[in-house]
Amino acid sequence: MELLDGKLISEKIKVEIAKEAADYLAQSGRKPHLVAILVGSDGGSETYVASKIKNCEKVGFKSSLIRYDDTISELELLEKIRTLNQDKDVDGLIVQLPLPKHIDPEKVTEEIDHKKDVDGFHPINLGRMMRNLPCFIPATPYGILLLLQEYKIDTTGMHCVVVGRSNIVGSPMSILMARNQKVGNCTVTLTHSKTKNLKEQVLQADIIIAAIGKKNFITADMVKNGAIVIDVGINREISTETKSGYKLFGDVDFKNVAPKSSFITPVPGGVGLMTIVGLLKNTLASAKKEIYR
Ligand code: GUN
Repeated sequence: MELLDGKLISEKIKVEIAKEAADYLAQSGRKPHLVAILVGSDGGSETYVASKIKNCEKVGFKSSLIRYDDTISELELLEKIRTLNQDKDVDGLIVQLPLPKHIDPEKVTEEIDHKKDVDGFHPINLGRMMRNLPCFIPATPYGILLLLQEYKIDTTGMHCVVVGRSNIVGSPMSILMARNQKVGNCTVTLTHSKTKNLKEQVLQADIIIAAIGKKNFITADMVKNGAIVIDVGINREISTETKSGYKLFGDVDFKNVAPKSSFITPVPGGVGLMTIVGLLKNTLASAKKEIYR
């Protein structure tokens, strides 16, 4: 078993991003700029957004965090997005999800200019991804592709079983793993909460991508010997063992699954750190107009 070390790889790629950002600053006189909007005070979202902002500073990007109480109206939020869409100093614009119930995440996602949609959630980016056209790829799937690429894992012809069909991870991941690309060319099965014989399906996998959001959901009896296991889960539980007061658990029962796997991502220290790298790479590409003019 070999660990797919998200910490090591994310640090390595961030050094490359920082160098590119410095070159971009020297040429253009400005830094890539990410704006993050956070509505309300969901504990997980607070942590993720803080990490995104911190990492922007680390690689020499400008970042802005715009916070709103969860009483903000949908209209007010949409108007702010329209203003930021017009702002030439903004390269990337993200609205952290989930949003309060009275705000429709679909409206918010569609309001963001697809040319600044560094989360890759806009229907134009998702549609372009389906067609293998230049686009912003959602940050978590992008991070997973980069991790597999760094470990030179050739997934050609593998059976990839994705567990979970979220808009953010499972659905785009299933498309990406089937594409005719370096990391891709898999036969993909997309499973979800209504899948019959889930265990039998997952047992067929050469590569498992677990993104179901349930602690220790993938158990050792569901995993074929030698499988590659990608754990997207970030399940937070209150704990007295850690400084933060929380402990993170993946969707995979790491202790028992790891010995059966060929490669596996830990939680924490795996996919979560790579998500940030995906976001930073998209933001840099936006500033450099590599995807859209
Ligand atoms: N909530 C959970 N993951 C994400 C993400 O990648 N982007 C945004 N905007 N919200 C999220």
